[in-house]
Formats: sequence, structure tokens, C-alpha cells
Amino acid sequence: MSERVCPWWLGYLLASPLRRLTCNPAKLLAPHVREGMTVIEPGPGMGFFTLELARLVGPSGRVVALDIQPRMLDRLKKRAAKAGLLERVDARLVAPGSMGLTDLAGAVDFALVYAVLHELPSADAFFTEAADALRPGACLLLVEPAGHVKADKFQAELKAAAQAGLEVLDRPSVGRSHAALLKKV
Ligand SMILES: C[S@@+](CC[C@H](N)C(=O)[O-])C[C@H]1O[C@@H](n2cnc3c(N)ncnc32)[C@H](O)[C@@H]1O
Repeated sequence: MSERVCPWWLGYLLASPLRRLTCNPAKLLAPHVREGMTVIEPGPGMGFFTLELARLVGPSGRVVALDIQPRMLDRLKKRAAKAGLLERVDARLVAPGSMGLTDLAGAVDFALVYAVLHELPSADAFFTEAADALRPGACLLLVEPAGHVKADKFQAELKAAAQAGLEVLDRPSVGRSHAALLKKV
């Protein structure tokens, strides 16, 4: 496991209800997610955002949550089951170098990439894969923690996104983070 990957035990802290005091998943995601959508969430951890995504896509939608750590996904599935949302969540264990999204080519309506891109081996490879999965016109919300990712590194990430065909639509304000709403052109 790469040193920069979030340890599994930190997943409990990230999924804690206390995090809602500084970050409201419904407020962040509701403008972007509607019923029936197919959403991908690389690096969901234990599902702090996944449950809200599952609520927003409704019974006819689905959330594909992709993580390299089984402990993160096991806890995510337990939390989804408890909330009655497990049927809408497709939790997939993936390899570090690829999200394995070929079955979703051109079928994804929205992607949430929250506090994970800096942990991936290659932003270029990730954005190429994500852009292939997104429908034309679909959006990807990228959020990176300002404590771990300096402004110049975030700019380099946006450049990698642009090279994959994802243009910046907006720069939303997200507490103590860099954020960009990207659109597949
Ligand atoms: C800092 S946590 C963020 C969790 C969640 N997005 C949140 O904000 O609560 C990063 C997550 O990305 C996952 N991750 C790291 N490298 C990954 C990779 N190559 N592919 C998929 N997930 C990865 C980690 O296992 C961890 O669950």
C-alpha cells in the first residue's frame, strides 16, 4: 500500500456524524445529483458522501463506489444496509492503478472525487478513465484538501483534467479545500 493512502482506521473518523458540523453532504451534492442517475465515487472511504449520493439517485439510480481497501468497503456496505440504501450501492474493490470502469463507458452522469485524487498513482490516468466513463455534458466534482494539496499541485491536477477533455465549469467554495466542477466536453 502506498504511504500516501489514507489508513483504513481513519475511515471511521471521516464517516463520523461530527464531520457534518463542517461539511454538509446534502448541500454539496444536491445541486448535481438527480433521481435515476448513475454516479461514480472513487475513494469513498466508509461512505460519508455515498449514503447521501444513494438518497439523491433514488431507487432507480445507482452509486458505484470504488476503493482499494476492503475494510473501507465493508463498513460502507454495512452503513448503507442500515440506512436501507444498499440496493442502490455497487461497492467495488479495485486495483490501485485503475478504477476498472470499462463497463460504464459513456454511462456515468456524475462523479464525486473527494479527497482522493492526491492518493492515486496518476492523475492523468485517472482523468482519462473518468472521462471515458462520463456521458458528454456530465460533471465531475473534484475536491482536494488544502492541507495535503498545495495550490500549484491542484492547478496541475486541473491541467491533467483538461488534457482528458474535462473543462472547468465552476470553482465552488468548499471549506479548507480546493474545488472545481468539471464538465466533459
Ligand atoms: C482520504 S480518504 C477519503 C474518503 C472519502 N472520499 C471522504 O472524503 O470521506 C481516501 C480514500 O481513497 C481510497 N483510495 C486511495 N487510493 C485509491 C485508488 N488508487 N483507487 C481507489 N481508491 C483509492 C482510500 O482507500 C480511501 O478510502
